[in-house]
Amino acid sequence: MSECPYDPFSPEVRVDWGPAYRQLRAECPVPHFDGFGDQGFWSAARYDDVRSLNVDIDTWTARDGSGPNHRDDPGPLNQDLPDRAPFRRLLTSGINTARAEQLEPAMLVETRSLLDEVDASRGFDLMMDFAVPLTSAMMATLMGISPEHEARPMWRGWAEVFMTSMQSEDPAEFTRATVEMYAFFKRELTARREAIEHADGGAGPDPVDFLTQLAVARRDGEHFAIADLANVAGAVFIGAQGTTASLIGNLGFRLLERRDRWEDVLAHRDLVPLAVEESLRFDPPVLGTFRSANADVVLGDVTIPAGGKVMSLFGSANRDEDRFCDGESFDIHRDPAQFRQHLTFGIGSHLCPGAPLGRMLGRVALNELLDRFPDLELAGPPGPHIEPFFVWGFSSLPVTAGPSPRPQPA
Ligand code: HEM
Repeated sequence: MSECPYDPFSPEVRVDWGPAYRQLRAECPVPHFDGFGDQGFWSAARYDDVRSLNVDIDTWTARDGSGPNHRDDPGPLNQDLPDRAPFRRLLTSGINTARAEQLEPAMLVETRSLLDEVDASRGFDLMMDFAVPLTSAMMATLMGISPEHEARPMWRGWAEVFMTSMQSEDPAEFTRATVEMYAFFKRELTARREAIEHADGGAGPDPVDFLTQLAVARRDGEHFAIADLANVAGAVFIGAQGTTASLIGNLGFRLLERRDRWEDVLAHRDLVPLAVEESLRFDPPVLGTFRSANADVVLGDVTIPAGGKVMSLFGSANRDEDRFCDGESFDIHRDPAQFRQHLTFGIGSHLCPGAPLGRMLGRVALNELLDRFPDLELAGPPGPHIEPFFVWGFSSLPVTAGPSPRPQPA
């Protein structure tokens, strides 16, 4: 058993996990942390171990949930193959590159409208005034929920409670946190299904929105159960927003903390997608997800007992010296062959279906910030990192700029 003094909750690790992960990769690649629940959990720090944890689905399962606690109410997406395949298809048929391209014009309008509202010369919060409402707007557009919908003001609270409860040692808290959110999706899905059924000739709701796609989808000729669909919608709702907002904040921070980086991207707009990719690698919005061992298994030189939970340290894998040249440096000029090797969107059967949307929104947001506020700068230190401990993003990021010298796009 490993003796590494690794504590993922310690203030030092929460503020900057880079040095701790580097030490783990070098000295103790599969540490056990006993300060959580009855059994604690292990972590995998090296790229190859993280990869096998996610790809070797005979050995590892997400059945007990992808957080640190053990859940006995797995949703359809936590099932193993082949049971999860129909639900996975629901995701990938509705959330993909084509969907990202389709949403891009609407997201450009949202981005511009949010930036119209800020007074950059007085300063604004890049997270709360921009990244967070922008990702909420993306979710509303994707789902087909109007901005005026009475539930919209509750969304942020649902996501926060859900995420915080994922690090709770009491799994029942997880269930409680989801009740209101799932009830909302059940109502929306039922209404859409009924509207289609009563449409008499197909004049039902816009079939392009994701909730309608879910509501009308069939398996072997039969509709899916509304409760299962609500679970899939909830996974999308939670999976999309905090992550993409964190990408925008983390990216903005890395470019603004060193002026030459911002100027470089400002002068060479073809660097924007590379800057997005390097931010994803260097500052992954999801630091890690969890899998459980199906049976006793050796990972590295450590035996994980059946049922033991292991966290994939995506942040560590993404900086692994054996895979990334000078992986500890943020470098938007790195060899393009390395960019897409990062594991920020996971790998294997749970690979993030929203990656094209996340990348698109990161690109649109950065391009618009560069257009609108070429003089943007940090106006103070970022706020504390958001919870739980396995995500990575700022709660606030104060920025400022002079008045826009450029005409605003029509
Ligand atoms: C920068 C933004 C994003 C990051 C870093 C991210 C990260 C991840 C990661 C690491 C996983 C794998 C989880 C696991 O292995 O247990 C995942 C899965 C998932 N993501 Fe994302 N995500 C992002 C954006 C999105 C967006 C925009 C959506 C939807 C519109 C989305 C929906 C999902 C869903 C539904 C899953 C579960 C997939 C499955 O279990 O088959 N994500 N994401």
